[in-house]
Amino acid sequence: MTSSIPTVSLPDYREQEPAVAERFRKLKERPVVLRVRGLGKSFASPEGRVTALEGLDFDVHRREFLCVIGQSGCGKSTLIRILSGLEQPTSGELLLDGKAVHGPGPDRGMVFQSYTLFPWLSVKENVMFGPKMAGRTGPSVESDARQWIEMVGLSDFENAYPFQLSGGMKQRVAIARALANQPRILLMDEPFGALDAQTRAQMQDYLLQIWKNIDVTILFITHDLDEAVYLADRILVLKAKPGRIDEIIEVPVPRPRSLDQSILPAYLATKKRISEMIHPREQHHKEMLHIPRLTVAGDEIE
Ligand SMILES: Nc1ncnc2c1ncn2[C@@H]1O[C@H](COP(=O)(O)OP(=O)(O)OP(=O)(O)O)[C@@H](O)[C@H]1O
Ligand SMILES: [Mg+2]
Repeated sequence: MTSSIPTVSLPDYREQEPAVAERFRKLKERPVVLRVRGLGKSFASPEGRVTALEGLDFDVHRREFLCVIGQSGCGKSTLIRILSGLEQPTSGELLLDGKAVHGPGPDRGMVFQSYTLFPWLSVKENVMFGPKMAGRTGPSVESDARQWIEMVGLSDFENAYPFQLSGGMKQRVAIARALANQPRILLMDEPFGALDAQTRAQMQDYLLQIWKNIDVTILFITHDLDEAVYLADRILVLKAKPGRIDEIIEVPVPRPRSLDQSILPAYLATKKRISEMIHPREQHHKEMLHIPRLTVAGDEIE
């Protein structure tokens, strides 16, 4: 199976930091969990067919943290819905551990931006829901659920209901619920997008800790540059209309990540490179709003 994946490493930083180069060499030696080839999706619309995604080729390796970034409308959620099996692609193929994916399955865990816990179930019951649906019974279902709840730091809330939790806590339960099915890959669509900046930063750290400790691969969608650089091993940049892969960037920032790294040249260079791709300068000019001037001419405001 051939691939033309345009992987980019920022060479200056890669050479300066041998540990980073070594990390990517090892990453590519790990088995491929998710293989996407020639993936395309178009929708019927009143103006004809809209191509949301076209010719996507990429691999996600075992225990990799891959972020997908791109402008609004470039097809990020469409991609994740196809990967989750909720939507069928128009073309191409999708292999999970080498097997073709045709519909939803417990091998893929999902966490969305909107809060999706079952409001009538307690935290523990929400986490037990997937394993029970998969036919598991007996006390181990409950003890396993407790373990996942402990892992996201919410043991004191196992009997609480979603309405009693903050947004960040709800997303921690959503992560525990997704992991309780022991998925091969965790698919996350802007999971922290609705949280305030401080909670969001805290959630990013929780997620990195969880990822480090369990055997799971993560595909994480965001449109926040800092979030992508902070979390990812590699960042897949999508360009819009139709959604195609612009580049896959290896993030040359060492792990473990910390906020102090946000001033490192490697961090800033990665951010700048993505920013130039997803917010090209000429576009800012095109999108200038034509607002009629309503104030009295002659005031001093620029
Ligand atoms: N069910 C649908 N029917 C028709 N068009 C659709 C459908 N779902 C998505 N689209 C179109 O496909 C394109 C990609 O949408 P998608 O929701 O995947 O973008 P996105 O990158 O997730 O955007 P955002 O960052 O705003 O969440 C858009 O042009 C959208 O209008
Ligand atoms: Mg979206």
